[in-house]
Amino acid sequence: MLRAHDPVAWFDEPDGNSGFWAVTRLDDLVAVHRDHRTFSSQVGGTELEELERDPEAREARRTMLETDPPEHTRIRKLVSRSFTRRAIEKWESTARALIAETIDGALAEGKVDFVDAVARRLPIQMISKLLGVPDRDAEELFHWADSVVYHADPDFSDVLYDKDDTDPYRLLPFRSPNSLKVFEYAQQLAAEKTRRPESDVVSMLAGSDDLTPREFQTFFLLLVIAGNETTRHSLSHGALALAEFPDQLHRLRENPNLTDTASEEVLRWACPQIHFRRTATGDTTLAGVPISAGDKVVTWYISANYDESAFTDPFTLDLGRDPNPHVTFGGGGPHICLGAWLARLEVRVFLDEVAKRIDRIHLVGKPERIRSNFINGLKYLPLELEAIN
Ligand code: HEM
Repeated sequence: MLRAHDPVAWFDEPDGNSGFWAVTRLDDLVAVHRDHRTFSSQVGGTELEELERDPEAREARRTMLETDPPEHTRIRKLVSRSFTRRAIEKWESTARALIAETIDGALAEGKVDFVDAVARRLPIQMISKLLGVPDRDAEELFHWADSVVYHADPDFSDVLYDKDDTDPYRLLPFRSPNSLKVFEYAQQLAAEKTRRPESDVVSMLAGSDDLTPREFQTFFLLLVIAGNETTRHSLSHGALALAEFPDQLHRLRENPNLTDTASEEVLRWACPQIHFRRTATGDTTLAGVPISAGDKVVTWYISANYDESAFTDPFTLDLGRDPNPHVTFGGGGPHICLGAWLARLEVRVFLDEVAKRIDRIHLVGKPERIRSNFINGLKYLPLELEAIN
């Protein structure tokens, strides 16, 4: 309804918050993301929380995601060469072997919680390898990281963002006390990498003089969260979609060359990031709607990816969809997802290996969603996997 009737709509908020503009069409999202001068990520951060009112918290929690160019460019350059398309292609055989083994394990079990048995494994294994996190530490580290970003879900976090008093944690990312555990771990790992540097991202960051200890810690936390849980949700939403559209799984099996368009379509469909926020730096207009300096402008990826004016039959999974201008990784501009090629690789090898092995996927219970208005994720997905005879 918003896309059709009120594509840049004002919403009041409770609890003394100022309210925000909801941007729901794809073209308008792209316009906002590409104009970082008018729509700043730094002034008030990228969450609904109004960090412009608490500059101390804003600075303590700031990562490159909440930094505008030119400083943003400087920070992003510290790691960007590890995430280019070419750098990521070198990881293909590793990713393929890992997902093949995981899918075989799940097939042997037949009925599985797909999130636990398959979807969460590959992203954790891959980002750990890139960062240089030893296998023995990964489980605990990613458990903490989940509790930080799923801060409104009692299954993950003891302190609930929208129910408990989180003021004591206002200087920590997502107001989550478990951020501190990730910070401590980051410091220990950096100390090890300084003693024995390798070719991984943490060794690169630990050896850089450009970051304060706190900047390094928040950077590490950003990479651990962003590199793991969004891709996990792409794989589980993808598997659920293949259960709901068995003809598309059949189509993929018959056409192995389809995996490029198929992985883009799964990424569009899954859309793990629900929204991010910008702040208007001056009076402006968007789609003819006047916006005032200081207004919060919230872009809804989850709506833009289903925009009828950009996609034919958006609510149908079409693994051959081409063109597919989805905004799962952002609408362009400086903050376009750093890990997009890694996420694409993981989704593509996943679909390849599924197509080689699986005939049908059946939903055998009720999926459970993460309690969040920020991340579109599944925490439980009961599936039965039927092997090709
Ligand atoms: C399907 C999986 C993924 C999705 C849906 C996703 C989504 C996003 C989105 C929407 C943004 C913000 C773009 C914008 O609107 O300005 C972003 C930024 C970012 N992503 Fe991803 N991401 C994924 C995977 C990854 C992976 C695997 C990494 C690994 C490192 C990663 C690291 C980052 C970082 C560091 C940023 C901040 C970039 C900046 O501010 O310059 N993401 N991602």
